Parts: sequence; structure tokens; C-alpha cells
Amino acid sequence: MDKKITVGVVGSGAMGSGIAQVAATAGHQTVVYDTNENALEKAKSNLSSVLAKLTEKGKLNLDESKNIFRLVKFTNNISEFSPCGLVIEAIVENLEVKQKAFTDLEKIVSGDCVLASNTSSLSITSIASACAKPERVIGIHFFNPAPLMPLVEIIPGISTKQGLAEEIKQLIAGWKKVPVIAKDTPGFIVNRVARPFYGESIRIYEEGIADLPAGQAGFATIDSVMREAGFKMGPFELMDLIGNDINYTVTETVWKQFFCDPKYKPSLTQKRLVEAKQFGKKSGKGYYNYENGSLVLPVSDSPLQETVKEKILMRVLAMLINEASDALYYGVATKEDIDLAMTKGVNYPKGLLKWADEIGIEKVLSALEKLYSTYQEDRYRPSVLLKKMVQEGKKGFFA
Ligand code: NAI
Repeated sequence: MDKKITVGVVGSGAMGSGIAQVAATAGHQTVVYDTNENALEKAKSNLSSVLAKLTEKGKLNLDESKNIFRLVKFTNNISEFSPCGLVIEAIVENLEVKQKAFTDLEKIVSGDCVLASNTSSLSITSIASACAKPERVIGIHFFNPAPLMPLVEIIPGISTKQGLAEEIKQLIAGWKKVPVIAKDTPGFIVNRVARPFYGESIRIYEEGIADLPAGQAGFATIDSVMREAGFKMGPFELMDLIGNDINYTVTETVWKQFFCDPKYKPSLTQKRLVEAKQFGKKSGKGYYNYENGSLVLPVSDSPLQETVKEKILMRVLAMLINEASDALYYGVATKEDIDLAMTKGVNYPKGLLKWADEIGIEKVLSALEKLYSTYQEDRYRPSVLLKKMVQEGKKGFFA
């Protein structure tokens, strides 16, 4: 793909404006289109203040900053996309609306322009099916905030032409991002493999395993266990930050798209929080309370026993590794890309498959088998790949 292409971005919201900043910083003429004038105005003034801050911090010099700003054109006229070699759509997460946007785009752009979607949860194949040329449609999934998060998942749909994913991968690598290629399956890599971080932690909380002798509910304890293991944030503070409403919707969508596989079943605890509008930081209350936007830590003077802490960590980790192993077994991505995705997309301290090797895959499998035999729930079924590897005497995923 020509490195000089003009890049189009549909939607100037949180993601679209971030993606435009990334493309312009990489030197592309960039066209941002939105139907909402206010959104365009806001995106333009945000870009100007972000660039001013970066200049103040010395990350850009004044010329670079001015040049980036000059490269971005904000418009409410879709025909401005005509010179584009790539258009990335980042509008509302609704299949019909996206399909309509893609068919509108096809009337404007040239025959060889690549059309991409930043969707987190819709199938690329279903978006492409509305197009006259589905072979040019692909997923390019950035993480929020796009200028800061290095990971980009590239998702060819089943009609996407051979080789396009590799071409896009090279382009995105040139934007100083870390691209990985994922199969068009629910949640792609990150939003699938990360589910147990939240789901299993909520389950442990619901069971009262982490409750303190003082009668304090244990979500803060689970958070501290996960932080001690190297995660930047515990699952509950992270859900509060993402928004319990958004996190719940992602979980429910992945679960439904997997035909209600119990592995991904949402939790009632989270559903009730959403019903109570306890979304987390943005609403002032979630699992934690927030005062002036800062999390108020519950006081604890009776720490949990080390053995219980170890059990909690092993349970969450084993479930995460199980999901990463299944993603590998079903060809969602290579083992290298699965590990890269979790470290670069959600800041995990280590790749999960590498982590499995360090713990020992036998130990991970045995933790899963114990859970499976205790609960007799399909949710805990061990990954076939993990079982096979242990049976065959393999040392690990990378060993
Ligand atoms: P947003 O709500 O902040 O922005 C969407 C923008 O699209 C709005 O400015 C709206 O006016 C505009 N828009 C809606 N319909 C349009 C149309 N037909 N034509 C042109 N403009 C239109 O949404 P956000 O958060 O930026 O998400 C956009 C997409 O990115 C969604 O598909 C979402 O699933 C995905 N995504 C979101 C992430 C996030 O953390 N917010 C992370 C990764 C992907």
C-alpha cells in the first residue's frame, strides 16, 4: 500500500478523532467526516489542544505540531473522501448504520480504496456483506485512547482479499503501532481473551471467597491480589474506569455471539450495578465510591491469608490462560500475536501463554480440572490444546 495515501476517518468521536491524529502524525493527508457539526468542531479544538500539550511537553516541535494540524481536514461533506486510499469507519456500533455508511462510501471512493471498520463487536464479514466489493473490507481495531494505546487488531473478514491483512499490517506498523492479525470471531483477541479477568473475579467476589473477617466484601482484596501479580489495575477498579455499562455490554455481546457458551456468561452482580446506574467512575459510584473523580479505598485492617490470595490469583490466571489457549487452538491468532495483544492492548504484565509456561502448563491444567470437578460447570472446561500438550509431555507453548 502506498505510504502517501490519503486516509479518511468516518466519525469524529472518541475513536475517530484519535485515529485521525495517529494517521496525520504518520504524515498522511487525513479527512475526518461526521454528520454532526458539533462533534466535528469539538474534535478540531481537541486536536489543537492535544497538539499544543504535546508541543509544551517537548514531544513535538512547533513545526511538526502545525504540520499535523494542517494535514487534518474536518468536513461534513462525504464526497471529500474521493481521494482516499483507505477509509476507517468509527461511528456508532450498529450493524445497519455501519452497513449504510459503507455503501455510501462505495459510491464516493475509487475502486481500489480499502474500507475498514473500527468495530469492537460486530463481525467484519457482516459489515462487508452490504458492499459491492466485500473483498476490500477489513477490520482495523484501535484501542482507546488511539494515540496512546499501541495495539491495533487487523481483522480480515471471510470475503477479504488475500494479502490485504498483511498490507494493512505493514502500513499500521509504519504508524508506530503494534499490529496483530485476528480471525473474524467474537471479541477478536483482546475482548475475548480478557473476559475471565472480569468474569472470574466477579464470580470469586460473588462467592465471598475474598471477604475479610471483618465482613467486608472482597472486591478490593481481589484488586490488590491482581495488582501484586503485576496488573496495573485490579479488575474491579478497571471495570469502574471502563464503565460497568460498557463492560457489561461487551461481555453480553461476546456471550451471545458465541451462542450463549457458558464460558462467557455475564454476571448478575454486574447487571444489577448497571440497572442501578452505578457505572463506576463516571457516575461517582460503582464497586467503589468516587469523590471528585478519585477512588475511595475501603479501609481494611485484617488482610486475607496468603493461601487464599494464591488461590484467587491462580483461579483468575488459569481462566485467562485457558481462554488464550482456546483462542490459539481455534486459530484466532498466532501465539506471538495473542501474547502481544494482551500486553500491548490491555497492559498485561506478561503474555498469558508465556506466563503459562512459567507457571507450568501441568499446574495450570490441574487448577482448571479442579475447578471443573468442583463446580461441574462448562465454564471451567479446560482447553483441548492445554490437555493435549500436557498429555503429549510438551513443556509449554513456547518451550
Ligand atoms: P462516539 O460516540 O464517541 O463517536 C461516534 C461519532 O460518529 C459521533 O461523533 C457521531 O456523530 C458520528 N456518527 C454517527 N453516525 C454517523 C454517520 N452515519 N456518518 C458519520 N458520522 C456518524 O463513538 P466511539 O466511542 O468513538 O466509537 C466508535 C466506534 O469505535 C464504535 O464502532 C465502537 O465500537 C468502536 N470502538 C470504541 C472504543 C471505545 O473505547 N470507545 C474502542 C475501540 C473501538
